[in-house]
This record gives sequence, C-alpha cells and structure tokens, in this order.
Amino acid sequence: MLVHAITTDATYEFASDVRAGLTREGQKQLPCKYLYDDVGSALFEVISHLPEYGLTRADERLLRRYSHEIVDLLAGPVAVAELGSGSGRKTRWLLEALCRRQRTFYYPVEISRLALAKCERELGDIDSISIVGFEREYLDGLLEVAAQRKAGQHLLVLFLGSTIGNFDRLAGVKFLAEVRQILESGDSLLLGTDLEKSNTQLLHAYDDELGVTAAFDLNLLVRINRELDADFDLGQFAHQAKISQDGRCVEMHLRSLQRQTVTIPAAEIVVDFLQGETIWTESSHKYSADEIFLTARDAGFRCDAQWIDEQWPFAESLLIAE
Ligand code: AVJ
Repeated sequence: MLVHAITTDATYEFASDVRAGLTREGQKQLPCKYLYDDVGSALFEVISHLPEYGLTRADERLLRRYSHEIVDLLAGPVAVAELGSGSGRKTRWLLEALCRRQRTFYYPVEISRLALAKCERELGDIDSISIVGFEREYLDGLLEVAAQRKAGQHLLVLFLGSTIGNFDRLAGVKFLAEVRQILESGDSLLLGTDLEKSNTQLLHAYDDELGVTAAFDLNLLVRINRELDADFDLGQFAHQAKISQDGRCVEMHLRSLQRQTVTIPAAEIVVDFLQGETIWTESSHKYSADEIFLTARDAGFRCDAQWIDEQWPFAESLLIAE
C-alpha cells in the first residue's frame, strides 16, 4: 500500500485552528476533525458498540444485507473511493460483492494513518482487491483518486457512517457539490445518513451512561494539552449533549465548570472561560429520508435507491452524478 505523507505541518495547523476557535467572538468552537486522533478514533470505535448508539450498527446491517442489490445497480467496471474509511469493517460487504464481479481498486481516503493501516489489514484478504490508501483530507484525496481513473471506468464514492451529519446543512450540500465536481456523470456516491429520532434517544446516544462519549469529547482537551503544551484541567470541564431548537441536530459541548483561565503556549494564547461557558466540539445533523433526495438534487446528483434500517432509523442512499 502506498501511503502518502502529510506535507503540511500538522501541528502548526492544529495550533492555528485552536487559536481561531477559542479566540473568536461569542461561542467558542473547535473543528470536530481534531476529535479523531488515535485515542479519539479508538474511543469512537467503542461508542459504536454501545447499546445507546445504534448508528454504526445500522449502517453495517444495511450494507451487509443490501450489498448485492447495491452492486447490481452500478454500471460497468468501477473503482471505489471511500471518504473516511474508519476501520473498514462495514465496507467489507460491499467490496466482497464487487470483487466477485470484477478486480477492484479500493482507495481509502483518511487523515489518520493508523486508521488507513487498520483498514488495509482488515480488507487486504479479499480476493481480487487492490488497496491504495491516501493520507489526505477528503477532497484532496478524491482528486488524487480521480486522477488515477482509467478509461471507461466509473467511480463509486463511499461516504458512510453519517459523517455528512458533521457539516451543517448548507455546508453539507456544498461539500456534496464539490464531490460532484470531481466526478463524471454516471459516477455514484453511496451516502450513509442518520435519520431524525426522538430527543431522548439522541441525548442518550450522545451522552452514554458509561461516559465513553464524554471521554471521546474530553480527549480533545487532553490532545491540546499534549500537542500544544496547554494546561486544561480535565476535572473542570464536563461533556454536554444538546439538541438544537428544531430537534434536527445534536451538538457536543465541553462546559467549563467554573470561571478559569487556560494557557495554550503553542497557540500563543491565554483563554478565559466563564462558569458555564462551552466549547462547541461537534454537530451531528439528522435528516429525513425525503430531505436526502432534495439535498442530493441540489448538489447535482439524483437518488436512484434508498435503504432504511428498521431498528435504528438510518438511510443508505445511492446517488448518481447527473
Ligand atoms: C462519526 C460523525 C457519525 O456524529 O454520530 C459519535 C461521531 N460523536 N458520538 C456522529 C460521534 C459522538 C459520529 N460520526
């Protein structure tokens, strides 16, 4: 496997994003991608096994049950690009179905090198597969994948696990439109999206009894302490899940339990927190099945088929680039 090294200075970028997010007017916030370092990714893996959090299992159930149906809807020879491969466990079903039909190139695009290596180990045993990983941000990686396209080959892009939910709705359409720009008409995008559910169910899913989600969220402060030399006192912040006014988004916040000051030398800032003030760390937007059709259309795709899990409302939608 070819793993491309990160060319930018990752710590510098982290420091400047932390500076921007914690010194802005109003609500402090941090980009959610920083939750997923090695520890964060491992904690998310645990979250996906929690009884309160059915999202990942629903995604996998759908892919296991319908992979043949999905593959049968794809025209011609296809290469597969996955945006955010995670462990690769649920992708196996699709790749196996596809590899039964043709030799398949699989291009995972991931910012975590560890996740890429895991994914290769997990899927490398499939017959007739070639895995080429890209340690890149999604769109940069997809551009590189598209550059490898052979004549007559279609691309299938996988964007699973409801990662789309991390974008606010407008940014979600914009992101899908950018993916569409990189694709050719007739290429496809399999989109996994978590659907709307009750506030109680959402609050339990994002603030579990065992405290794994809290640890996942607080790990961001541990990471800032370690990588940027900061002095966040973990005991003085608490994880909080909030539901947006319209009930269609869960927000994760880290709430300051007292008035306090934190120094972050590598970001060259000192940050004051009021008691009760929060850092907004992640959003998880929930969609209705119909809304996915409209979102797809606005981004230049048509939705050809959709599969919905019965146990945990979640949709797999097959979008075709128009
Ligand atoms: C991996 C982004 C889909 O939003 O549900 C889980 C991340 N955060 N628990 C989600 C997450 C807290 C997850 N995604």
